[in-house]
Amino acid sequence: MEGGKGGADAALVEMRGIRKSFGNVEALRGVNFRVNAAEIVGLLGDNGAGKSTLIKVLSGLYGADAGTFLFRGRKLDWTRSGVSRARGLGIETVYQDRALGLQQSLWRNVFVGRHIHFSSSQFPDWGLIDVAEERRVTAELLARMGLGGGRLTPDTRAGVLSGGERQGLAIGRAMYFDAELVVLDEPTTALALSEVDKVLEFICGVRERGKSVVFITHSIDHVWAVADRFVVLSHGLNAGEWTRGALTLPELTARLREVAL
Ligand SMILES: Nc1ncnc2c1ncn2[C@@H]1O[C@H](COP(=O)(O)OP(=O)(O)O)[C@@H](O)[C@H]1O
Ligand SMILES: [Mg+2]
Repeated sequence: MEGGKGGADAALVEMRGIRKSFGNVEALRGVNFRVNAAEIVGLLGDNGAGKSTLIKVLSGLYGADAGTFLFRGRKLDWTRSGVSRARGLGIETVYQDRALGLQQSLWRNVFVGRHIHFSSSQFPDWGLIDVAEERRVTAELLARMGLGGGRLTPDTRAGVLSGGERQGLAIGRAMYFDAELVVLDEPTTALALSEVDKVLEFICGVRERGKSVVFITHSIDHVWAVADRFVVLSHGLNAGEWTRGALTLPELTARLREVAL
């Protein structure tokens, strides 16, 4: 593997020259994107810039048409799709359009597709789901994330949750599944202000535990509060990148306006 440093000084994720087209729409035209350990990266750009496509490649939903993908300095084949492969590395994505089963209970939503099975030798490979354990873990997640103030139980229907609570539960779920990197696509869009603050707290909580976040938004104010680095995409290309402290909020706002033109 050329140039891969590996070890502690390598980025958690390093994507180089990523391309992805849909028919004749070139959504990504050679994007570079890096995430370091214990870092919150704000991924910014106008609608259609390619943000969602980039993180769908990152999370294995789409294979890249071209480009290089390194995880902790190790070069991996990212040209084929593979969500479970990305999950296996600890890349957990909460999609903008991810539909909770609103009629389903919280514990069913937390464990949908990834159940806890009995590990007892009494039930070898029967695939029996440990419902009591899934309920217990869900209650623990609600408490740990400070969700609902006792109003919510594992058996509450998901439809009862506010938008911010849904994001909080999704982040808690990702941490439960040992995420190294939590990718959030527009987690604060369409939330009330008080809810935005709560979601920003959840995001900072991930970094406090030494894990990383990619925070996608077109709202600069929301990332400004928390991100360590700002990456801007425009028309499927990198349009700028700044670390916190390298520029002021009005400067970043002006840069974003420029690239959106
Ligand atoms: N599944 C798809 N099929 C066809 N075109 C797509 C698809 N997904 C995204 N695109 C197009 O790719 C471009 C980038 O979209 P997207 O990644 O969703 O941007 P963003 O998330 O920054 O708003 C847009 O022109 C969009 O219409
Ligand atoms: Mg998007």
